Amino acid sequence: MLGARGLLRALRSCSTVSCPRPRASVKLSVRDALRSHGAIGERVKVQGWIRSTRSQKEVLFLHINDGSSLESLQIVADSSFDNRELTFGSSVEVQGQLVKSPAKRQNVELKAEKIEVIGNCDTKDSGFVHIHTPIITSNDCEGAGELFCVEPLSKINVPKEKFFDVPAFLTVSGQLHLEVMAGAFTQVFTFGPTFRAENSQSRRHLAEFYMVEAEISFVETLQDLMQVIEELFKTTTTMILSNCPEDVELCHKYIDPGQKDRLEHMLKNNFLTISYTEAVGILKQASQNFTFIPEWGADLQTEHEKYLVQHCGNIPVFIINYPRALKPFYMRDNEDGPQHTVAAVDLLVPGVGELFGGSLREERYHFLEQQLARSGLTEAYQWYLDLRQFGSVPHGGFGMGFERYLQCILGIANIKDVIPFPRFTHSCLL
Ligand code: 4AD
Ligand code: MG
Repeated sequence: MLGARGLLRALRSCSTVSCPRPRASVKLSVRDALRSHGAIGERVKVQGWIRSTRSQKEVLFLHINDGSSLESLQIVADSSFDNRELTFGSSVEVQGQLVKSPAKRQNVELKAEKIEVIGNCDTKDSGFVHIHTPIITSNDCEGAGELFCVEPLSKINVPKEKFFDVPAFLTVSGQLHLEVMAGAFTQVFTFGPTFRAENSQSRRHLAEFYMVEAEISFVETLQDLMQVIEELFKTTTTMILSNCPEDVELCHKYIDPGQKDRLEHMLKNNFLTISYTEAVGILKQASQNFTFIPEWGADLQTEHEKYLVQHCGNIPVFIINYPRALKPFYMRDNEDGPQHTVAAVDLLVPGVGELFGGSLREERYHFLEQQLARSGLTEAYQWYLDLRQFGSVPHGGFGMGFERYLQCILGIANIKDVIPFPRFTHSCLL
């Protein structure tokens, strides 16, 4: 590896041999770049991961680090370089000129002439720790009773009592386990199979589907959560469109030619937000005749979700603050009245309806205690209440159905067509 001295030699010899510009940039580690104040004015190339970005009107500042130094190198770039891919955790190659830094802390900074994103950050690079949450669990996270039981087939090799002593099920969500881990790691996620014994043959329900779930500590508002959701949707979709355009275009071409434009429309617009109460108001005023009459306190049906998304100009729309009676025990009480709501959020997208479901969690011991008592769940969720016993922190999270996400970006109407072995009521082939 070229040390700082070797590098300076290389740079100096290069300048004495009078290389015509532009000449090939010398590749430097961040450490060497920071120590190369004798080479001010030289053109170099540095690779590393973005530690922070600061965007000003005319200048973009990036700090990149490659592990060679505790200190990061400041990159100064024209604001025209700014784009969504240049984000915390993205790996980049920057070419430019070493210049003297006006800041006292560092001697040298790099004035960027070219910035190439090598790898875009995924959720892990954004500081989320991947947790493998269990598939077998004794909890019914969503409290809807849509559970598949897990029991040994044969009683021969197992004790007479239940295998786990308590009833065990296939998980409907990894959320409660993520909440445990978020108490230590702040930002966590899981991606795994989830199961729902929902008696539905609809175009968006499966009995076994994959879910991406994230849980974030110190989140105090639904707006913070919605920002993460919107960024996740837009970053992932942009990445898919640029990494595998042929696959996506094939689906768009033969399945739904209008989907490309619809997707662009979703990506370039800010998602909208309306409250559940406003949503019911919009539905009540609609000229359309719904099969299910919209009423405050009733769940939003697929036909309602479809209407709301169209009403919002086919831009994804967050519906927030649902009636407490409609949502699971863990959601944070908004303490409003007389219509009692919880800090829940669903993201509705064109063609699919609900894609994300999430909430702030009830971190206040006494509120949760009362809610568990009201739902008759005190005994079953004592462990969950105990997490708040010695002081919890505000936190929240969400889940996104992976197959529904594929439906959304590929324009595939039926969820059974995005998965090779769909499981649903009366069908468990192979
Ligand atoms: O809204 P849900 O039920 O939320 C939860 O399970 C939360 N515990 C997640 C969390 O906060 N960590 O499910 C989340 C998403 C839905 O928005 C939908 O996209 C998908 O999972 N989903 C299904 N996808 C296919 N088939 C089904 N039967 C689904 N049920 C939910
Ligand atoms: Mg939901």
